[in-house]
Amino acid sequence: MKFEKEILCIGAGYVGGPTMAMIAYKCEQYRVNVVDIVPEKIDQWNSDDLPIYEPGLDEIVKKARGRNLFFDTDIEAGIKAADIIFVSVNTPTKTYGVGAGMVADLQYWEKTARQILDCAESSKIIVEKSTLPVKTAQAMERILNSGKNGVQFEVLSNPEFLAEGTAIADLENPDRVLIGSQQSQSGLKARDELVAIYANWVDPDRIVTSNIWSSELSKLVANAFLAQRISSINAISSLCEKTEADVSEVARAVGMDSRIGPKFLNASVGFGGSCFKKDILNLVYLCRHYGLEQEADYWEGVVSINEHQKERFVLNMLTAMFNTLAGKKVCLFGFAFKANTGDTRETPALTIAGRLVAENAQVVISDPKALDNARQDTKELKGDIQFIEDPYIAAEGCHAVAIMTEWELYRTLDYKKIFVSMQQPAFIFDGRNIVDHEKLFNIGFNVFPIGKPKKVHF
Ligand code: NAD
Ligand code: UGA
Repeated sequence: MKFEKEILCIGAGYVGGPTMAMIAYKCEQYRVNVVDIVPEKIDQWNSDDLPIYEPGLDEIVKKARGRNLFFDTDIEAGIKAADIIFVSVNTPTKTYGVGAGMVADLQYWEKTARQILDCAESSKIIVEKSTLPVKTAQAMERILNSGKNGVQFEVLSNPEFLAEGTAIADLENPDRVLIGSQQSQSGLKARDELVAIYANWVDPDRIVTSNIWSSELSKLVANAFLAQRISSINAISSLCEKTEADVSEVARAVGMDSRIGPKFLNASVGFGGSCFKKDILNLVYLCRHYGLEQEADYWEGVVSINEHQKERFVLNMLTAMFNTLAGKKVCLFGFAFKANTGDTRETPALTIAGRLVAENAQVVISDPKALDNARQDTKELKGDIQFIEDPYIAAEGCHAVAIMTEWELYRTLDYKKIFVSMQQPAFIFDGRNIVDHEKLFNIGFNVFPIGKPKKVHF
């Protein structure tokens, strides 16, 4: 069959895989090819055991794979054949040199740009899917258009707003699709081509176009605003614990103001995930680069509050458990950075596990999807750490349970059964406020929620 368009995506990760699966699923007329430098990852995408867990992903991959969706390791051939190339490689925080710990590490992205330049034999549209600092498209254009063989590249910014755990629903029914382009004739033409792809299933009102710099910046700002809401409610959670106010009641009352809205106001042990911290630090770096010190400090505060919230959680545990955790067994319910994913990047659970073993506590980690990642992540931690998927077995003989991830599973466990299997007095620290605190207290637990009065038997 002759396809209308050849689409290539470089980077088969949490964004590239699901996004391309959705395009292929919705648009049978396009051939969608996803490539990666890690062959094992491509093998997994071609197997029944996909490299990431995402509700609904298996179904759409199964429908499109082999029909118009392909996963491959031949990046060169992919580039040659493509009309449109999405670049969805990772852009982690730089760990060395200038801007270390703050700025995005663009080495993977730049390698990709150079590889496209080396291999391309015809003109192409290049779409920045990765989250990048504002003005990156300029650098990409300069690299790409440094070739002498007459091949033209038009660079677009099309940041992804999906959240893990709901990626398929987000991709199928996005709040908006944002496409930034140069305002030149060729830029606008390329933009229209990308709009036409999304228009196969997204309502035209939700496809927003802008200049390329606004698009790049909007992605960083969206993540900064989301994270800011969590840090705001988490900062209030500390005050609630001091004043006997209840953070859920405060959040409900505040969120009912239609100007504020109810979403993203769940106080927690802290936000995790590969992007919030990285993108805010990137924004902070950009502000400082342009001499905007106060603005940089303002956004940095969002990250500081998050670090403080995790530390506060551990200190609360320590104080509650008679100021020593040495030799005590603590079970972590959940290790993923949020529910419905196996992803553990920047998970607060890793920080908590690290702090617990530093106090010489024994740690038991339980999670329905993230134990493989948890084993990898905790390799460097020195201490007694066990991994047990079954939460009942994991909690047996423990002094405390700490809920780290809001998995539905943890709401509905038989906590009576758990209580009798634990060391007494038994403690529960609810880092997500997802269990019925009154009920657990009545069972006999000493209960420590976030931002609500503790319930203790002594
Ligand atoms: P990821 O690490 O899961 O995937 C990136 C993939 O790119 C990896 O499989 C890696 O092997 C591959 N890669 C790196 N260099 C390559 C190269 N030169 N050639 C081919 N493949 C290469 O990362 P991710 O979570 O998918 O994030 C990708 C980008 O999307 C980041 O910029 C991130 O900020 C952004 N983003 C992520 C999310 C999310 O929920 N994870 C959401 C929105 C945006
Ligand atoms: C986030 C954004 O929501 C996406 O729009 C964005 O595309 C993505 O980052 C990205 O750029 O990577 P994600 O990190 O996958 O998505 O998940 P979120 O649902 O945003 O949760 C992030 C963290 O905040 C999780 O640890 C979650 O548990 C925590 N959270 C969320 C809270 O603590 N309280 C809340 O009310 C909401």
